[in-house]
Amino acid sequence: MELVQKGFDVYIKLLAMDDVGAIVENANDPEVARSVSAPGTFPSPYEKSDAIEFVKATIAARKEMRGLHFGIHHVKYGLIGACTLMNIDIRNKTAEIGYWLGKVYWGQGYTKQALRLLEYLAFIELELNRLYAYTYTFNTRSSELLAGLGYSIEGLHKQAELHGDKYVDKYAFALLKSEYADDIKPRITEI
Ligand SMILES: CC(C)(COP(=O)(O)OP(=O)(O)OC[C@H]1O[C@@H](n2cnc3c(N)ncnc32)[C@H](O)[C@@H]1OP(=O)(O)O)[C@@H](O)C(=O)NCCC(=O)NCCS
Repeated sequence: MELVQKGFDVYIKLLAMDDVGAIVENANDPEVARSVSAPGTFPSPYEKSDAIEFVKATIAARKEMRGLHFGIHHVKYGLIGACTLMNIDIRNKTAEIGYWLGKVYWGQGYTKQALRLLEYLAFIELELNRLYAYTYTFNTRSSELLAGLGYSIEGLHKQAELHGDKYVDKYAFALLKSEYADDIKPRITEI
């Protein structure tokens, strides 16, 4: 499946084995790894075998409708990152979102575009009601990104994780369907 919006620089497409090379190229960066708030799932250094295991796991998650993992593809540069609907809970109509981008592509609005596509899929196509995300309090970029998309902070998870010898805090963010006001209409292709 791929979602393409006219005028956007990026589109999102379900991850596949031929994305492995580009995943490693973009994910193998300690600055990306330290900010991804999914303990144990984002190794550093990030090897080819890690990407293969990751893509395999995403295919299994998709089959069980637990998660939908997309590559973020730039129209010129190919795969530059990933975004995910995970912990999909059909009964309660909720899902968690996750995202990361290769560092050279930061600060150009690409993740924002990718998340708008993901939100369209979640709220309009899958008819979910609530999206949530966790982000470390030191990760200002990620908090600003979510705030800019209309997410609000629901709480602070104090000393939620132990990183080396330091505890780190995380914010919990959420966006409800009733707060979602996007007017994009992406083309969705099953491939
Ligand atoms: C967090 C991350 C995904 C942001 O991606 P990005 O593509 O740089 O974000 P965008 O360019 O789409 O920026 C969206 C918003 O973030 C904010 N932002 C962008 N650059 C920023 C900066 N240097 N400082 C603070 N806020 C910034 C702005 O509010 C921006 O909105 P605007 O363009 O309307 O002003 C990226 O930095 C990343 O991959 N970090 C490492 C992994 C990670 O932290 N993942 C999230 C885990 S919860």
